[in-house]
Amino acid sequence: MVFPEYRPRRMRRNATLRAMIRETRLSAEQLVLPVFVQPGRGRREAIASMPGVCRLTVDELVKEARACLQCGLRALILFGLPEKKDALGSGAYAKNGIVQQALRTLKDKVPEMLLITDVCLCEYTDHGHCGCLHGREVDNDATLELLARTALSHAEAGADMVAPSDMMDGRVAEIRSTLDEAGLYQVPIMSYAVKYASAFYGPFRDAADSTPQFGDRRAYQMDPANSREALREATLDVEEGADILMVKPALSSLDIIRQVRDEFDLPVAAYQVSGEYAMIKAAAANGWIDEARVMAESLLAIRRAGADIIISYFAKDMARALGEKA
Ligand code: PBG
Repeated sequence: MVFPEYRPRRMRRNATLRAMIRETRLSAEQLVLPVFVQPGRGRREAIASMPGVCRLTVDELVKEARACLQCGLRALILFGLPEKKDALGSGAYAKNGIVQQALRTLKDKVPEMLLITDVCLCEYTDHGHCGCLHGREVDNDATLELLARTALSHAEAGADMVAPSDMMDGRVAEIRSTLDEAGLYQVPIMSYAVKYASAFYGPFRDAADSTPQFGDRRAYQMDPANSREALREATLDVEEGADILMVKPALSSLDIIRQVRDEFDLPVAAYQVSGEYAMIKAAAANGWIDEARVMAESLLAIRRAGADIIISYFAKDMARALGEKA
């Protein structure tokens, strides 16, 4: 029997050697934690399908932000649960809306935290779609103005970055020009450039109470069967002025993350969404998988695919684990 001259196992013999030649690393600086903010005081409400994730009032969110910083996690993306919903999603762009309140308070009390806001109408509309309706269709161009108003009100309230997730055509350009006209040219846009119409968002819609009341989102979010279209979507967002390109969901789109990384020179973000988190949590709760290891492995795979930034409900746990290892 002739052995190959190169024996890969030589380089796997101990942990120090493996660490030395490791190609991909995770660090807390690359992680962003999604948080759900609700009206009221002193309330943390558990979300059944997302164990460990809560809807927080602003005062509780301040505590959570401080706890995150202690773990080395320095960025949050905010989602709002308004008091009331209406057809035009007015809670999204209300001066004193829930996200706007949270931004002002967090900026004041935890200024070190980087605050990103999800810009969309679905948590604020009574019909649950991501824009205003014309008949039973989401009216793309009428929605643009509402999204731009939302982004502007977030930036005025202190958002460090805005992240449109609605998938309307032309929204990055509309938001960019609105921010620029208001003198907020320093606020970057992280666009959900490639967002698939995915069943993995199920638990999020429980959390945000944002399930569409009729139909689904397939007329604006992308068909998971398409990859060339993903590149067209990303190209448009680059041309419109996006600063970061996001792909979502993450684990079912690792090939797309890689393609976007290879085709564009902007930073790439990936969103490990609610359903990905829930699957891992559920299997771990049954004792079927090791939660800490699967968490780390899934996040590492997303990095290896090419993501510079990862948005994940595991962000705080992962940051803590990385800190303990260091
Ligand atoms: C808002 C939005 C959604 C998610 C992020 N922004 C819901 C959706 O599009 O239905 C999903 C996040 C997750 O599942 O964790 N449009």
